[in-house]
Amino acid sequence: MQQTPGDHDDLVQQQYQPRAQAYASSAVHAAGPDLACASALVAALAPADAGWRALDAGCGGGHLGFALAALPQVAQLCALDPTPAMLEVVQQGALDRGLAARLHTVQGQAGSLPFADASFDLVASRYSAHHWRHLEAGLADLVRVLRPGGYLLLIDTLGHDDVLCQTHMQTVELLPDASHVCNRPVPEWRALLQATGVDILHEQAWPLRLEFASWIARMQTPPHRAQAVRAVLQQAPAEVHEALQTEADGSFTLQTGLWLARKPV
Ligand SMILES: C[S@@+](CC[C@H](N)C(=O)[O-])C[C@H]1O[C@@H](n2cnc3c(N)ncnc32)[C@H](O)[C@@H]1O
Repeated sequence: MQQTPGDHDDLVQQQYQPRAQAYASSAVHAAGPDLACASALVAALAPADAGWRALDAGCGGGHLGFALAALPQVAQLCALDPTPAMLEVVQQGALDRGLAARLHTVQGQAGSLPFADASFDLVASRYSAHHWRHLEAGLADLVRVLRPGGYLLLIDTLGHDDVLCQTHMQTVELLPDASHVCNRPVPEWRALLQATGVDILHEQAWPLRLEFASWIARMQTPPHRAQAVRAVLQQAPAEVHEALQTEADGSFTLQTGLWLARKPV
């Protein structure tokens, strides 16, 4: 019998609710040069006693939130996610790391954040925005809850400028994860951020290798969908193999981008 499809928000819940533990322990998410860079950038923005209120929007397993909450500049970090199971693993992770007194969780989503204007000194988000149904509205909402002069730190997987490569990449991302929306290319990211009125201070990119077996296992991809990913990659033209640095076992490499921006005073 055919299932009646829910809306995109339902798909996000279906995708992430059963996989929270897998994201909490995912090596790809728990480490990475972007986390160290984010911590160093934020530490350089304010004195240690700044007492900042920070938000991690789309916290998932909490890896960016944990890194920021450990900084002396951050007095309180709010880890927000629409998926209840993610908030549970973040609460446990905060306890395990001795961060429970300075980290709390809130259920919600970018686009309808349950906070007043100018509530935060720092608003951050990592590897979440490519799931947002309305990215422009989501980013505008992040900037709304920032105080004037506050900082926005955004990290996400990047799309390709080349449309052929972009189409293949989005297909490979969507097949194991129906809540995927789009990895945006760098020029689109710049335009999206500038449209919110922030000033971009820093941008940086890194490769992110996705090892096929652990990637498919983390997302609990059914065999027929994993097979479809392999089929798409096997049939892909040389330009796509070069762009995605595909490997014989189906592993491939994406690019990730980081932006630090400031809301004008
Ligand atoms: C890959 S996980 C995030 C990883 C995490 N930030 C980290 O650093 O490891 C993506 C998360 O985005 C959340 N999400 C999806 N749509 C969202 C939205 N509109 N606003 C905020 N979070 C959203 C999902 O529930 C999921 O937990």
